Amino acid sequence: MGGEACRTSGPGAGKGMTTTSLVSLEECCLMPLAEVHLALVLKWRNSERIRRVMFSNHVIAEDEHRRWFASLQKDSNKDYQVLLYRQSPAGLSCLTNIDRTAQQAEWGFYTSPEYSLKGLGRALGYLAMERAFKSLNLSMVYTNTFAFNVVALRFQEKLGFIQLPGNHEHFHRDGRDQEVHRLELTRDRWQEAHR
Ligand SMILES: CC(C)(COP(=O)(O)OP(=O)(O)OC[C@H]1O[C@@H](n2cnc3c(N)ncnc32)[C@H](O)[C@@H]1OP(=O)(O)O)[C@@H](O)C(=O)NCCC(=O)NCCS
Repeated sequence: MGGEACRTSGPGAGKGMTTTSLVSLEECCLMPLAEVHLALVLKWRNSERIRRVMFSNHVIAEDEHRRWFASLQKDSNKDYQVLLYRQSPAGLSCLTNIDRTAQQAEWGFYTSPEYSLKGLGRALGYLAMERAFKSLNLSMVYTNTFAFNVVALRFQEKLGFIQLPGNHEHFHRDGRDQEVHRLELTRDRWQEAHR
């Protein structure tokens, strides 16, 4: 599947990526989720690896997926971007509940279960936060992550997200209460780390 050519995202691109990363930022870019990505994104979203960490974890049917995509076209409070790695789709980043007055949004993300390249998540996170704080002019991004999803929590902390003390909620899923952690990243903190 094709996509627009990858470009670096300006001064500071690549900062924070270690030399041991197999994926370099220059090989990655974001592009808006389009019809051409739908089948692949549904396959990712329905994979066991992604469903187990999502709040809604039923297997999504194709018509439900298409209706969801159609509704996105009319919803300016959501921003779905596909990560391209060497011009092939390799992950998804979504900003939802975009509140332009408060300049805040909730972030969700995953890399393709078909790739296991070190640094792919990090590139996705970097590009997603640059988009949130520069292109969309948000001042704060937050996430809600299950406590059992230790990899995603570590990953966000590496990006600079902070877990607010005492800010834990519960979500009833599969017959039990699961602890959910809310994490936040402010534009100031992001810019400070990527000056
Ligand atoms: C979270 C996710 C994006 C990380 O992607 P990734 O490609 O593995 O990440 P990277 O290789 O770039 O690693 C970035 C950081 O993530 C953390 N991380 C990645 N794999 C990890 C693991 N197995 N154990 C602990 N931390 C891990 C580390 O902090 C790592 O930084 P480091 O290598 O400097 O220690 C990916 O695992 C994913 O898509 N998970 C499922 C979706 C999900 O949980 N989404 C959140 C809910 S919305």
